[in-house]
Amino acid sequence: MVHKTPYDTILGIETSCDETSAAVVRSGEVCSNVIASQLVHAEYGGVVPEMASREHERLLAYITRSALEQADTGTKDLDAIAVTYGPGLMGSLLVGVNFAKGLAMQNNIPVAGINHIEAHLLANMIDEPELDYPFLCLLVSGGHTQIIRVDGYGQYTILGTTIDDAAGEAFDKVARLLELGYPGGPYIDKYAKEGDPKKYDFPRSLKDSGDLNFSFSGLKTAALYTIQPMPENERRQELPHLCASFQEAIVDSLEMKLRDAARQTNIRSITIAGGVAANSRLRNRMKQMQEELNLRLYYPDFQYCTDNGAMIAFAGWYGFRNGIQHDLRLTAEPRLSIAATSVN
Ligand code: KG4
Ligand code: ZN
Repeated sequence: MVHKTPYDTILGIETSCDETSAAVVRSGEVCSNVIASQLVHAEYGGVVPEMASREHERLLAYITRSALEQADTGTKDLDAIAVTYGPGLMGSLLVGVNFAKGLAMQNNIPVAGINHIEAHLLANMIDEPELDYPFLCLLVSGGHTQIIRVDGYGQYTILGTTIDDAAGEAFDKVARLLELGYPGGPYIDKYAKEGDPKKYDFPRSLKDSGDLNFSFSGLKTAALYTIQPMPENERRQELPHLCASFQEAIVDSLEMKLRDAARQTNIRSITIAGGVAANSRLRNRMKQMQEELNLRLYYPDFQYCTDNGAMIAFAGWYGFRNGIQHDLRLTAEPRLSIAATSVN
């Protein structure tokens, strides 16, 4: 049973990277989640920051109106606004933060800044309100790869992190080498289904490092040296095997360190979050690990894995029940860390 707080209907705004999104959450339920994935970056093989902020500027008011309409909600019905204030691209974050502050001023309601990484990990609770602390979260996105210990709301400890590329970044870079389009993760996931994951022996870096850190730049370089010399027809023929072998190397590294983290902390609840949590092989391997080690495993619905406004609105709704601060002096913080997010 969910008890009402004065802040029950929350508009969430997400503009940290290349998704312009707005959503309404009421009493913990997602009422709408409108996402515009910016297509302008595809031809560049990665996000062009200047174009991203212009696109957010162009789309945000329209996307917000759609989210309110789909939730059958007027601005007068809103109790508060939640907006991503970091980490992310400075220009993109500023568009969202300023828009949210303007709307909050106009309607005389609070605006709360949401840490994008925290929203990814809390997204596990959207459909699993019973998820209990403590839990471990494998946060795998385009910008981050971390194992986070979550002891309560605002109580986050980073146990391991990537020392170079993020897992999603590695997916995107290798997809670009293979001329698959952007973002690359979903393409590699798709082609890998037909391939042999053992055909190419790609490295699993930091396997014996004794810590919970990750490294994907050696894997990316190994993929480059394998793919680049291949003639066009061979590359096309080998595509499924290259995708499957590369994906397996990433998933092996992630699984290995998460397994170590579960053993070291003795925490029995495991979650995965972020765009790469949509990867089908990672989900399967997590399920196998869960059965083998008798753990509880949670992951968000696909639509709440990649960047979306619903996770921001939900983090706002959850935050207001747990003492989140709100302040009109809110500003964008591109390098915000999850470790900096805590409630006093
Ligand atoms: O969380 P997200 O939407 O944005 C960031 O906060 O970075 O994650 C985007 C990343 C991209 O690198 C994309 O290629 C990856 O998530 N991704 C996937 C899949 N779907 C999205 N990677 C592997 N397999 C997928 N199915
Ligand atoms: Zn994200």
